[in-house]
Amino acid sequence: MTIKKICCIGAGYVGGPSCSVIAYKCPDITVNVVDLSVQRIAQWNSDTLPIFEPGLDAIVKQVRNKNLFFSTDITAGIKEADLIFICVNTPTKSFGLGKGRAADLKYIESAARMIAKDATQSKIVVEKSTVPVKAAESISNILRANQKPGVKYQVLSNPEFLAEGTAVKDLLEPDRVLIGGEQTPEGLQAIESLVWVYQHWVPKENVITMNTWSSELSKLAANAFLAQRISSINAMSAVCECTGADVSEVAHAIGTDSRIGNKFLKASVGFGGSCFQKDVLNLVYLCECLNLPEVAAYWQQVININEYQRRRFANRIIECLFNTVTDKKIAIFGFSFKKDTGDTRESAAIYITKYLLDEGAQIRIYDPKVETDQIFRELTHPMICDDEEKVKRLVTVCNDPYVTAEDSYAIVICTEWDEFVTYDYKRLYDTMLKPAYVFDGRLILDHEKLINLGFHVETIGKRLIRANVHRPIAATN
Ligand code: UDX
Ligand code: ADP
Repeated sequence: MTIKKICCIGAGYVGGPSCSVIAYKCPDITVNVVDLSVQRIAQWNSDTLPIFEPGLDAIVKQVRNKNLFFSTDITAGIKEADLIFICVNTPTKSFGLGKGRAADLKYIESAARMIAKDATQSKIVVEKSTVPVKAAESISNILRANQKPGVKYQVLSNPEFLAEGTAVKDLLEPDRVLIGGEQTPEGLQAIESLVWVYQHWVPKENVITMNTWSSELSKLAANAFLAQRISSINAMSAVCECTGADVSEVAHAIGTDSRIGNKFLKASVGFGGSCFQKDVLNLVYLCECLNLPEVAAYWQQVININEYQRRRFANRIIECLFNTVTDKKIAIFGFSFKKDTGDTRESAAIYITKYLLDEGAQIRIYDPKVETDQIFRELTHPMICDDEEKVKRLVTVCNDPYVTAEDSYAIVICTEWDEFVTYDYKRLYDTMLKPAYVFDGRLILDHEKLINLGFHVETIGKRLIRANVHRPIAATN
């Protein structure tokens, strides 16, 4: 089948950027991105896109309303398309069977039902959202149970590996593109059609094809392996703090072994983002359902260490501040789950803030990209804090880092934004209460310099000399 029109259901972090790049690289294909959310589509059609990704604005500007369209007309999008990407959200279930672990497939199911209702000609349906293994089978079952005469479907798996903050680069130069499908003549033909789309810019050897289940599992496995590396180095960071070893030195030493490699070995306050926790939990649930309890327990430990790391960091803040933070002003620098994105999903900052709020601290938050409303939405989520009044009373969002730190006991670095490194820490120190603390949850600051300014510095995976031991002469006079 020649692909002339593509429809993408879901204009989120995955659907928006990936289909913008397809439209940009394939001028011979018309790409319609559709979504139920009127607001999100309006944002995609405006000068302020709903997501911040370096390089995305320029690409969207170049192709929007030429061969890239954003619309809420889902029916028209489905009817016209030869190929449909399903890019809807697959959050972790919050109630019922598999609560807290299994992926909630209600949006996938609803997208499949919309396709079945509106399609009047054969389609290739591609699941791009990360899904549990065998989700393609569920999509196929829905489509085939509602099949109209003359309408045939092939369901492919084409997981997206883009990371936020580098989405455009990851899409333009992917390490690989994975396409899974039925190993039947029709399935192989559908795979070839999608390979053809990617070959507009991705070298053929970088497009890997396989059976559907391998493709679905590979996505979960890739995220589980990446998350496991972070939990492994974070587990080592606890050992470092007890022994005097330095986690950055350990990471460097093991990363130079070419079999291990140096990526994803940066110790931190814990991983966040919409994928790692969700996908590992999804894998755990899958293993339990497959009666593989030992395998499930193995992967569950990756999540447990992540929670342990966040809790450990928050406890350190409380312990250092004389075991109580009640009514103390604490400045949180960074609320997104990593730098160069405004996304806050599962951000470590949410949990650190929650633990400090539980102790009655007064929290001031500064993030260069995250909107105030978004911060309050995260902190008042029922799983975080069910007392909205308390959050409103104790949390202030500031738009200036110097104002954020004024009169505070401590600065807590939760996100590794580049600008945090460039601040005038002398100026920050002068306006803070003494002893002034910095808790560097991302290992980005020059700790020695801060100690010399008079700060008491605590970080991950490294013991530092205390300010009261190593006070600059000016401070002791
Ligand atoms: C991840 C995968 O990288 C991507 O392939 C997949 O498609 C989606 O999930 P993303 O969540 O956008 O991407 O960001 P990533 O760069 O993987 O970072 C995830 C979290 O791990 C962030 O909170 C980051 O700060 C943290 N991290 C990453 C570390 O703590 N240490 C590291 O060494 C690397
Ligand atoms: P992801 O990170 O997986 O892209 P997002 O939450 O950013 O997840 O985006 C998913 C998008 O899918 C949302 O904008 C949501 O409105 C949209 N969506 C969910 N279900 C449907 C549906 N049945 N039809 C159209 N859009 C949908």
